Amino acid sequence: MHIQRVQLQQHGDDRGMLIALEKDRNVSFDIRRVYYLFATKNEVHRGQHAHRHLNQLAVAVRGSVTFLLDDGTGPVEVVLDDPSQGLLLGEMVWREMYDFSEDCVLMVLADQLYDPTDYITSYDEFLREVQSPLYGRELAAC
Ligand code: TYD
Repeated sequence: MHIQRVQLQQHGDDRGMLIALEKDRNVSFDIRRVYYLFATKNEVHRGQHAHRHLNQLAVAVRGSVTFLLDDGTGPVEVVLDDPSQGLLLGEMVWREMYDFSEDCVLMVLADQLYDPTDYITSYDEFLREVQSPLYGRELAAC
C-alpha cells in the first residue's frame, strides 16, 4: 500500500490527549528520522518530489495542510487536519503540500536518514519510472 490513511489511538482523559507512535505497534517501519515543518507560509507549495526507497508517516500535530498525492494512478488530494490521523506514504509517491494553516506543525517519521540522492524532483521523470515495466518487476521481486 503506497498511500494509506491511518487512525492513531488516542489516550485521553480529563487532562487532555496523548498519542504514542511506536515501531511495529502503529508504525510499520523502522523509525530512523523524525522531522517537522512549521512556520510555513500559506502560499507556499512544498514537497514536489517522490522517493525511490523511503517510507514515511506524516501527522499534522497542529493545524492543517493539504497533500496532493500520486502513486502513478492519478492525483488525489488528502487533507490532514487532525493529530489523530496519520498518512502513510510508501515508495514512489509524488507529493506536494500546500494550504498550510498558519499554526501548522507537520511531523514526519521516516525509515531512512536524509538522502538527497533518493529524491525524484521531476514529475515527468517520476511518471516515467513509476509507469515503466521495470519498476513493476522490481516490486514483484520484493
Ligand atoms: P526540502 O527537501 O526542500 O523540504 P520539502 O520537501 O518539505 O519542501 O528540505 C528543506 C531543507 O531541509 C533542505 O536544505 C534539505 C534539508 N533537510 C534536511 O537536512 N533533513 C531532512 O530530513 C529533510 C527532509 C530536509
